[in-house]
Amino acid sequence: MTHTTDYALLNKQLHALLDTRDWLTNSAQLSAFIFEQIPDLNWVGLYLHREPETLCLGPFQGKPACHPIPFSKGVCGAAARSSQTQRVGDVHAVADHIACDADSRSELVIPIVADETLWGVLDLDSPKLERFSAADQAGLESLVALFTQRTELPRFIEAP
Ligand code: SME
Repeated sequence: MTHTTDYALLNKQLHALLDTRDWLTNSAQLSAFIFEQIPDLNWVGLYLHREPETLCLGPFQGKPACHPIPFSKGVCGAAARSSQTQRVGDVHAVADHIACDADSRSELVIPIVADETLWGVLDLDSPKLERFSAADQAGLESLVALFTQRTELPRFIEAP
């Protein structure tokens, strides 16, 4: 079944929800909002670039997850290294996929960049194969762009 999520509506709702500039509050709201509004997800959350070449677990919804994740590993690591969204239709086809939850079958990871430095990534997991379409990727990237614009993102580490 094809999902048709109304991302324009979600953008309006998220804009109203992010009414502080605080990164922790807004990160928690972002993950809870996406988990509630977008069907067929088993995990949504942020990994933060708080240590060099390392992603540290941040606010999330779902089961307890892997921490830390080095830039060298997994789908999140690939997003962090490349600063490019990673859309994986079948995680079993990715040799170094990090399985935090055996139920996950597809994944979308969107980098969050501030001042030309990777600040973190938003990671979404689904128990369905091929859950994320190109339209979902564009829609979720627009929600991340809104989050970035509405939030004071602290510099966790010095730029290299
Ligand atoms: N699957 C990810 C790890 C994070 S969990 O899915 C929450 C990866 O391969 O990077």
